[in-house]
Amino acid sequence: SDQAIGTAHGKIILIGEHSVVYNEPAIALPFPAANVEVRIKAIEGESKIFSSYYNGPLASTPVSLYNLRRTIETICEDLNVDTSGMLITVSSLIPPERGMGSSAAVATALIHALYNFFECSLDNETLLYYIGISEKIAHGNPSGLDARITSGTKPVYFIKSKSPETFDLQVTGYLIAADTGLKGQTREAVQDVAKLLRKSKRKTKLLISSLGSLTAQAKSAIEEDDIAALGRILSKAHRHLSDLSVSNEKLDHLVQTALEQGALGAKLTGSGRGGCMIALAKTFDQAKHIANELMKNGAVETWIHSLGVNTHE
Ligand code: PMV
Repeated sequence: SDQAIGTAHGKIILIGEHSVVYNEPAIALPFPAANVEVRIKAIEGESKIFSSYYNGPLASTPVSLYNLRRTIETICEDLNVDTSGMLITVSSLIPPERGMGSSAAVATALIHALYNFFECSLDNETLLYYIGISEKIAHGNPSGLDARITSGTKPVYFIKSKSPETFDLQVTGYLIAADTGLKGQTREAVQDVAKLLRKSKRKTKLLISSLGSLTAQAKSAIEEDDIAALGRILSKAHRHLSDLSVSNEKLDHLVQTALEQGALGAKLTGSGRGGCMIALAKTFDQAKHIANELMKNGAVETWIHSLGVNTHE
């Protein structure tokens, strides 16, 4: 067709980051409050790409967009269509390198847009295959969690060696996410946990397995629609993550602020040392108040996400 659109959303790790590397479970949620749209319009001649990083011919994209270019080329080759004749516009509201799955979400939206543009039907397996190609170029060794979450609509209970299990999250309450404005430091943080494990084996092992049991408890709290219990579990997880050395001053300050302003619980989310933090609130008004206070205390952006059974969306 002349014009096509593809969309996708971000992800938030509710609990289980870092310990998931050591085969403990993690829970991740689709985060529609931050989303991506890719539009494709038919044009004459060479394809062009428009994004916040780069506007110009597809053939000379910078390194930061190379994964997208390769994805486009691979799909066109597989569908047996020409790579020229497209104006591709990427509009993303997901900040990059914050642990929100921005790269996987952009890939997901792009793949949908291409399949719509060429009027081909796309099954989930094929979608995951192409996101995988894009993510491998962007990140080297992706766990696949971002691909699952940004392309799916359900929360996932994830254990590395097993196939991810989706479940329903229907909790009365709201999740606030706040961006520190600092890039997350995934590689360094993961390496430092590994170092800590060598240095203080017993203590670190205990922290990791406690994070695993907190994740299991979080799933029960969700199943029982007990947001107060879920909040306490998240706050405990933050203290463990901090003991694992993956928090920083700004994350600790925002977590503290959220708790002082009435959050039911708060923690860093994702790799830590930057990136984002999350907090829980019972009502939308409380969530709005907490989000405002987080902005006053150094957050550069906040999102409010309804967790399910709420009257105010
Ligand atoms: O910040 P993100 O979304 O890249 O999450 C990192 C999660 C870790 O558990 C720290 C690392 C991993 O590979 O699972």
